[in-house]
Amino acid sequence: MRHQRAPIDHQTDTRYGSATQAFPRFSRQACYADIAALSRVLDSEAYFTERFERQKNDRGMLLIAWLDGMPVGDVYLWLDPAEEEDIRKHLPGVALLTHLEVLPEFRNRGIGTKLVEAVEQYLVEKGREQVALAVREDNVKAADLYRRLGYQDWGHGMLICIAKVPGPDGCPIDEPELCHIMVKQLHSMSPSSDNTFSNLAS
Ligand SMILES: CC(C)(COP(=O)(O)OP(=O)(O)OC[C@H]1O[C@@H](n2cnc3c(N)ncnc32)[C@H](O)[C@@H]1OP(=O)(O)O)[C@@H](O)C(=O)NCCC(=O)NCCS
Repeated sequence: MRHQRAPIDHQTDTRYGSATQAFPRFSRQACYADIAALSRVLDSEAYFTERFERQKNDRGMLLIAWLDGMPVGDVYLWLDPAEEEDIRKHLPGVALLTHLEVLPEFRNRGIGTKLVEAVEQYLVEKGREQVALAVREDNVKAADLYRRLGYQDWGHGMLICIAKVPGPDGCPIDEPELCHIMVKQLHSMSPSSDNTFSNLAS
């Protein structure tokens, strides 16, 4: 499918009494040009290229937040069986929200929340009932955000998870990290007509 850059969507956000604020659009139909743009501002090209290949094979979804034609954040939804045996055992078949990241200068304006909500909306529309994620035990701020969004500890203790981090040559290497596993029940969420994933992501 031909890639179409999502139009920039300006909405007024009143949650924090702020003035008019530009909000991003989300793009699932990433192409290699997007990967290059994303890699320039966010992370290693090898990582995004690998995730893009998985998306092409319906093994995941790389969602990019665009603002003024520039990628400002991303999240990767892992749809394959989890790499960690304990997650496969306790949460069989549950999709994993991974690699949530927003450029530092665009943080604290709701983009991370919107990325998470877009992934959840996608899963609800696919009939999924749960979503899970791993957050490093020292990443208190991200864990607070997830809790605020309805994620709860899974109740099976912390877990060593394998994170992909850029190596010295830019290629991703595996790094073990001690993580909290958090889960959200999606069955109370219903697909809303004006907030469908396809409205959010184009
Ligand atoms: C975690 C991360 C993705 C959050 O992204 P973000 O865009 O800053 O997230 P949000 O703006 O939605 O939420 C962050 C905070 O801003 C607040 N906020 C959201 N919208 C806001 C707005 N319009 N105005 C002011 N504050 C706002 C939220 O209440 C939240 O507050 P909290 O810190 O008390 O939870 C980002 O900090 C990041 O990239 N961190 C590094 C990578 C990382 O740790 N990823 C998580 C891996 S598990």
